[in-house]
Amino acid sequence: MSSVEFRGVTKHFGKTVAVESTDIIIEQGEFFSMLGPSGCGKSTTLRMLAGFLTPTSGRILVNGRDITNLPPEARGIGIVFQNYAIFPHMNVFDNIAFGLVERREDKATIKRKVGAALEQVGLGGYEERFERELSGGQKQRVALARVLVIEPEILLLDEPLSALDKQMREEMKFWIKDLQKSVGITTVYVTHDQSEALTMSDRIAVMNQGKMLQIGSPVDIYEKPTSRFIAEFIGDSNLLDGVVASLSDGGCMVDLGDGVTVDARVSEDVSLAPGNNVALLLRPEMVRMAPSTDSEKPRLSGKVISEVYQGALRRYRIRANQHDITVEVPNRPELGQLTPGTPVDLFWSTQSGVVVP
Ligand SMILES: Nc1ncnc2c1ncn2[C@@H]1O[C@H](COP(=O)(O)OP(=O)(O)OP(=O)(O)O)[C@@H](O)[C@H]1O
Ligand SMILES: [Mg+2]
Repeated sequence: MSSVEFRGVTKHFGKTVAVESTDIIIEQGEFFSMLGPSGCGKSTTLRMLAGFLTPTSGRILVNGRDITNLPPEARGIGIVFQNYAIFPHMNVFDNIAFGLVERREDKATIKRKVGAALEQVGLGGYEERFERELSGGQKQRVALARVLVIEPEILLLDEPLSALDKQMREEMKFWIKDLQKSVGITTVYVTHDQSEALTMSDRIAVMNQGKMLQIGSPVDIYEKPTSRFIAEFIGDSNLLDGVVASLSDGGCMVDLGDGVTVDARVSEDVSLAPGNNVALLLRPEMVRMAPSTDSEKPRLSGKVISEVYQGALRRYRIRANQHDITVEVPNRPELGQLTPGTPVDLFWSTQSGVVVP
């Protein structure tokens, strides 16, 4: 188990800046995800850590030791890619044994270690199967077993679930997370799927255009994004345009126009001044909606524009002054259904509104 550190790491490909002066510290045993849109530099970052690419500048350290110039095989790193890297002409046993055979370990040791790795990934009894006889999820388990069997200090996973269908992805993400915790191996996981990152990670680095925009726990990233880009990239979001009216400790008043001013939170990593243009982030599930009454003062009032049935939820679009707001309501009969045109009041707690620049 190891810690990883990137110090001012930059990677250029000709004129393309794939990764820009990146500083990261990944703790021992941590499940650390890099999340961002296609082309933002996730794989490049991972490949520099694996040793397949050399940084243009900066250093990479493992356990405090500079590994920037070490070849891949000397780094104690195992990597699993999106496409199942298993050999079609070898059965499962030989696939998993491959790295051990290369290291010239003796037959009995290989048998024992391969058996243990197969148990670890839940494929005991699959030794004789070939690739064509395995499901996508099983192939990725074999790919993981192949890596784990050589006992790397660090596990790198580059979109390992993206070739799987939705149901298999759902299963595998919990499975990988559990496996990682039980092995206790420091893991760097690359994905552009925010739900994978939120479910699996101890911490997430959100990247865009070669830069790490925010690094934090899933809760921090989802509930206290530091920019509009992150708020929109992670989860569904309502972003209500407004202006900072005044600031207080950890919070502010936001003028949403039409005489409506609401209090909201501000992340510690964001600095604002009165008069700044901002957006108030409200997650659709954080807003409560009720037919308009005079008994309770709402944050905003508006009208139902549309309703979409989504099985577990009903999604409403509400027009409130100049703002369009999406509200999600759990699909329970007692919560009823509101038809377009119905006047509604919207409520949310101060906690659930966050201001982003
Ligand atoms: N070998 C290379 N030569 C030239 N440019 C490259 C090379 N590898 C990556 N790039 C460029 O560097 C940038 C980052 O690429 P990278 O593969 O790291 O993105 P990514 O975040 O992994 O994207 P995806 O989600 O699509 O896999 C892109 O603009 C890409 O075109
Ligand atoms: Mg990639």
